Amino acid sequence: MSTQTSACKMVTTRTLSDMKQRGEKISMLTAYDYSMARILDVAGIDVILVGDSAANVMAGYQTTLPMTLDHMIYHAASVVRGVERALVVVDLPFGTYQGNSKEALCSAVRIMKETSANAVKLEGGVEVIESVKRILSAGIPVMGHLGLTPQSINKFGTYAVRAKDENEAKTLEENALLLEDAGCFSVVVEKIPAKLGKKIAERLTIPVIGIGGGGGVDGQVLVVHDMLGINNEFSPRFLRRYSNLYDIMSDAVRGYVADVKSGDFPNENEEY
Ligand code: KIV
Repeated sequence: MSTQTSACKMVTTRTLSDMKQRGEKISMLTAYDYSMARILDVAGIDVILVGDSAANVMAGYQTTLPMTLDHMIYHAASVVRGVERALVVVDLPFGTYQGNSKEALCSAVRIMKETSANAVKLEGGVEVIESVKRILSAGIPVMGHLGLTPQSINKFGTYAVRAKDENEAKTLEENALLLEDAGCFSVVVEKIPAKLGKKIAERLTIPVIGIGGGGGVDGQVLVVHDMLGINNEFSPRFLRRYSNLYDIMSDAVRGYVADVKSGDFPNENEEY
């Protein structure tokens, strides 16, 4: 039997489970292309999410709803080619898994076959549980996503913090347990009170990864364009910016334009 081999140890769903057991936090970022995936992987990220946030940061859409399975497959295959160590998880886009578990399985199978990614992620709890179970029955690892679920923006009408009231918090907790019982290897919780994030992470044995879910969860995920400051129009409270690439890249482009206009570029060392 031939198996994948690599000089470095690859992150698996089992690795993440062991990390939770040891109390070691899990780092996760999004990526949508080969070059960014290589940077994240070499820098030691544990999980790369090919998020449908590609709709916003790569394609300029207002919501994630326009993403198609073909779009996600293109991005995911590019990312996988750049990764040696990290676990690659791919979002199932809107309309490819809700309401029809057979279609959900076909969507997940296409992602796994055509990208060689390691797992899929989908949004929702009880309303998508049949799809979750069917995908899992094919041996495809599933990551859940609760709290603010951007594919349901038209139902919520707002990107505000979720589960602030007791009823919604209780439902969210029940859904997290349901996803764990179904066999999900991890759950993302987005924009929920820190106290609730901590409570869910304590109740679940699978890793809970937060984006705006506070410090009491088992790991953190951010959209890479936001944390690198490539996108400087989005400043939610949960976002920490680790660079200001918008300004750095703008300065570089201004310098290039000026050098081309002045004739300074190329100089004699830069020509044949
Ligand atoms: O699409 C995405 O980037 C996500 C993260 C916000 C978790 O789902």
